[in-house]
Amino acid sequence: MAETVTITIDDRQIQAAPGEMLLWAALDNDIYIPHLCASREEAHPTASCRLCFVEVEGRPAPVPACTLPVTEGLVVKTRSPQVDSLVAMGFELLMSNHRLDCKNCSANGNCELQRIAKARKLRLKPKNLPVLDKNLPVDDSAANIVYDPNKCVLCGQCVRACRKSGNGTLGFARRGYLRVVTTFGGVPLGESNCTNCGACVKVCPVGALAQK
Ligand code: SF4
Ligand code: SF4
Ligand code: FES
Repeated sequence: MAETVTITIDDRQIQAAPGEMLLWAALDNDIYIPHLCASREEAHPTASCRLCFVEVEGRPAPVPACTLPVTEGLVVKTRSPQVDSLVAMGFELLMSNHRLDCKNCSANGNCELQRIAKARKLRLKPKNLPVLDKNLPVDDSAANIVYDPNKCVLCGQCVRACRKSGNGTLGFARRGYLRVVTTFGGVPLGESNCTNCGACVKVCPVGALAQK
């Protein structure tokens, strides 16, 4: 198999490792594609955030860049009316149950939601949908970590990091609108088997998990 393949992103030719997911090939070449849920180590991405859509030559509908392995001659565009509208809709939905409080947020200035909004000229505050605040209690019980589930975008990055570096304390519970990242049995972090390693805080792309 060839060591690299040549692909075209937004009319720019780049080299990438065959089979690598397009999202990483693009980001490594300073081509930004919005993303929240993907991680490089994951062999089977969940593609749950639905923000990394790209237009692929020869395909009838946009596809998530985090699930698209690169092959020789692949031609993609990161922007098109269809892609832009899918990303805008997904982002609006996400922000419609996000507690927006940038001024007081630990992630302010280093937040993936702010980055997406800036890159795609989208509003952080939804224009067309009402904001539904889940009003869940902020968990301040751990020694070094504060967790505000109202800011969580359910990307799953912390769950994976906790499984890898911590005790596997964090996981998803419930479905649909009630879906939440929590501990086994829903106990506060301070009463769980959390080791306070902070691996979850490092990977959280927003201000839901913060260092005290
Ligand atoms: S997570 Fe990001 S968008 Fe949300 S309040 Fe914090 S800084 Fe603002
Ligand atoms: S707490 Fe942060 S890292 Fe974990 S799922 Fe929510 S947004 Fe993602
Ligand atoms: S990064 Fe691709 S769907 Fe979330």
